[in-house]
Amino acid sequence: MGGMFKDILGSSESLFRDDVALDYSYQPKLIPYREKEQMYIVSCIKPLFQGRNGKNVFVHGQPGIGKTAACLHIKKEIEEETDDIVPIYINCWQKNTTHKIILDICEILDYKFVQNRRTEELFAVIRQLLNRKAAVFIFDEADRLEDIDLLYMIIEEIYKKSIVLITNRKGWLADLDERVKSRLTAEMLEFRPYSLAETRGILKQRMEYAFVPGVWDEEALELVSKKAFDAQDMRTGLYLLREAANMAEGKSSRKITVQHAQEALSKLGEFTSKGNDTLAADEQAILDLVKNSSGSKIGSLFELYQKQGGNLAYGSFRRRVDRLERDRFVCLEKTEGGAEGNTTIVKFNDAVKKLTEF
Ligand SMILES: Nc1ncnc2c1ncn2[C@@H]1O[C@H](COP(=O)(O)OP(=O)(O)O)[C@@H](O)[C@H]1O
Ligand SMILES: [Mg+2]
Repeated sequence: MGGMFKDILGSSESLFRDDVALDYSYQPKLIPYREKEQMYIVSCIKPLFQGRNGKNVFVHGQPGIGKTAACLHIKKEIEEETDDIVPIYINCWQKNTTHKIILDICEILDYKFVQNRRTEELFAVIRQLLNRKAAVFIFDEADRLEDIDLLYMIIEEIYKKSIVLITNRKGWLADLDERVKSRLTAEMLEFRPYSLAETRGILKQRMEYAFVPGVWDEEALELVSKKAFDAQDMRTGLYLLREAANMAEGKSSRKITVQHAQEALSKLGEFTSKGNDTLAADEQAILDLVKNSSGSKIGSLFELYQKQGGNLAYGSFRRRVDRLERDRFVCLEKTEGGAEGNTTIVKFNDAVKKLTEF
């Protein structure tokens, strides 16, 4: 080996053991502190095990607090327990129309003849396959659905099922089409943010998978836990675990100290906790606009958006802004009266900035 890489690859060992465990999508073996919530969902699907119809559940709570993780854990348990109940998990952010979801379900059911088939035909196939058994549908980020025809079809035509709808936005259910809402009769289940002790426990568990034992200073972990607790978002904690370790490695340190954690924190300003990778391009463009002219009226913002070549109509633009607010990227303030009547002021959410103050 040449001299150049010797230091990096040879003598110094990595602090990471398996950094995949820090990915947001990593599925931990256990989901502690959500036992009650998981039991509740299980109680809703329990009738399926006895050949009866299940209950539906509406799971809500802010981002980054284990809603997806808990539901995926249940999905896995069902798979291990029985072949008579088919769990179907759909991320509606990725699959947001009835047709796309139906294709997804066909894939889950291992049904391959989907080419040039109409949505209704494919649903008939799914119905036939699922009505021999029972099904648990988990629609994650359900508020991203562009149409809810499929929900309606499932409610009406799949006999033994539970539908789990997950969203960060509690109000979504209230806004749901009456046709669906009246038939859905979902139980409500709120996920509350974690306490400091729970946050610490979760991060410790992840740390044990991800790092070589003993590399984390107690004090550094405490700082990361505290910041993740303040943010009420585990993703912030996972991000900080990774970045602090990167800082330490960059300095060839064999320990991750509170200094490294602080440096990682100062990078957090750049970071939006929901992860920019989950923002659609048009939302990202609008967010950038808000960042540069925080405090503008929504009307002026829209004009600016159009000037810069944005091609969404006002209604769609407005919906993107509402989503950004829901995910806490921006804050909306309504002003009443005044020369121009009522208007909405859009501000960049600097809660993220606040996280870096200590
Ligand atoms: N109780 C928990 N135990 C282990 N990991 C958790 C727990 N709660 C959240 N996490 C982790 O935190 C991250 C965010 O959780 P996630 O379920 O995606 O949040 P949500 O769906 O509520 O936005 C994921 O990487 C997840 O594995
Ligand atoms: Mg989620």
